[in-house]
Amino acid sequence: MKRFYLKTMGCQMNDHDSEVITGILLSLGYQSTDSVDEADLILYNTCCVRENPERKVYGHIAAFKRLKEKNPELIIGICGCMPQQKQERQQMLQRLPHVDLIFGTHNIHRLPELLERAASGERIVEVWEEGQYDEGQDYRDDLPVQRSDGLKAFVNIIYGCTNFCTYCIVPYTRGKEHSRTPAKIREDVVGLVADGYKEVTLLGQNVNAYGKDLTEDASFSALLEDLNSINGLERIRFTTSHPRDMGPDLIKALATLDKVCEHLHLPVQAGSSSLLKRMNRGYTREYYLDLVKQVRKAIPGISLTTDLIVGFPGETEQDFQETLSLVQEVGFDSAFTFIYSPREGTPAARMPDQIPEELKKERIYKLIELQNTISENHMRRLLGTNQELLVEGRSKDGLIGRTRTNRQVHFEGPDDLLGSLVSVEITEASTWSLRGRIL
Ligand code: SAH
Ligand code: SF4
Ligand code: F3S
Repeated sequence: MKRFYLKTMGCQMNDHDSEVITGILLSLGYQSTDSVDEADLILYNTCCVRENPERKVYGHIAAFKRLKEKNPELIIGICGCMPQQKQERQQMLQRLPHVDLIFGTHNIHRLPELLERAASGERIVEVWEEGQYDEGQDYRDDLPVQRSDGLKAFVNIIYGCTNFCTYCIVPYTRGKEHSRTPAKIREDVVGLVADGYKEVTLLGQNVNAYGKDLTEDASFSALLEDLNSINGLERIRFTTSHPRDMGPDLIKALATLDKVCEHLHLPVQAGSSSLLKRMNRGYTREYYLDLVKQVRKAIPGISLTTDLIVGFPGETEQDFQETLSLVQEVGFDSAFTFIYSPREGTPAARMPDQIPEELKKERIYKLIELQNTISENHMRRLLGTNQELLVEGRSKDGLIGRTRTNRQVHFEGPDDLLGSLVSVEITEASTWSLRGRIL
């Protein structure tokens, strides 16, 4: 019996890719292990959107050299977004001579063959080249998937990104936008529901661009409407929406389709129009604020979350203040905040006036402090409200459910509620957690 250790970094695309990788490995007779010491295969599914996690990969893999010395049969592999960059690939080959297997985000389906070759002593580097597939073709359609959850499932709807925000590496690693057909997505979701799944999260770097690359008439809002009609499915979520491509049809879909949850992750990145322009985001501060107004008007109580970057090249104190004031004005339920990390090959990395690390840190602390206060107020406001929960699990604090707005709530109840929808009243609300009483 062979064992594999799989480490996953990065976004939900990678989380889901790892579910496919796990599915393939199990079908090959491998068993999963949490311990690198007993693994016959160590595989890192990597992210390169920022520098820190990248450094970790080098650190970890370097340390596995001793394992390889003990067990020469051990296969060490790196996949995901890092290998998609040529320079990174070359560095890996040089700096990590004990790595056997390097493959990209579009080569997962070839894993069985790659492993076989690696086992026979070949050192393997396989990455996808642009333009390899045709419309409607999805080399992953028939791959086994080992899902990490029995209630909630990820479903890819569009791969890649062609937005080329000037700071971002993703368009270079994941390639151009490539939508799956509505029929295939529906088939997936129907299958999931038959297997007992209650919730799907539709995945794409920019789900709002869904369908634009297909010749058949398809749009994201039409897809939502179609999926909303599937019996037995309770909840539909999606991520990520690009503000520029968020039209009235999508706002209407959010407002009217009963299964589509009241949560919108709408990354704004910055509050100053001049920074947004240099980020190539394709919208202004005013546009974003107006969009938020329309969304809130159509869907009262919707949870709005975002991504923010501080320390983009040339960010002035005034620009930063505009980010703070936008955050204040919108009042996001929560935000992922990032320090700008220069990525080789992207336009922003070559821009003048890179911000010193100290100043970036100072700014992110201020931003986090402000957002924490706002998040706390949102939590407090839930006190005394009634919420629909999907009961997802149990912890030492009782059952755990999730609201339609994507918040966790702990409450007391019997295990047979697992997997069902219940109503609770929120009885306690602190900065990071909610407690409820079943109604
Ligand atoms: N497709 C999604 C986000 C993908 S990456 C979108 O456009 O919203 C997730 C987040 O990482 C981004 O929203 C951005 O805030 C952050 N990010 C991307 N590149 C970055 C960089 N070079 N430095 C710091 N943060 C970055
Ligand atoms: Fe990156 Fe922008 Fe594409 Fe998001 S939309 S993945 S931030 S290039
Ligand atoms: Fe990272 Fe690749 Fe996702 S770079 S954020 S894992 S698409």
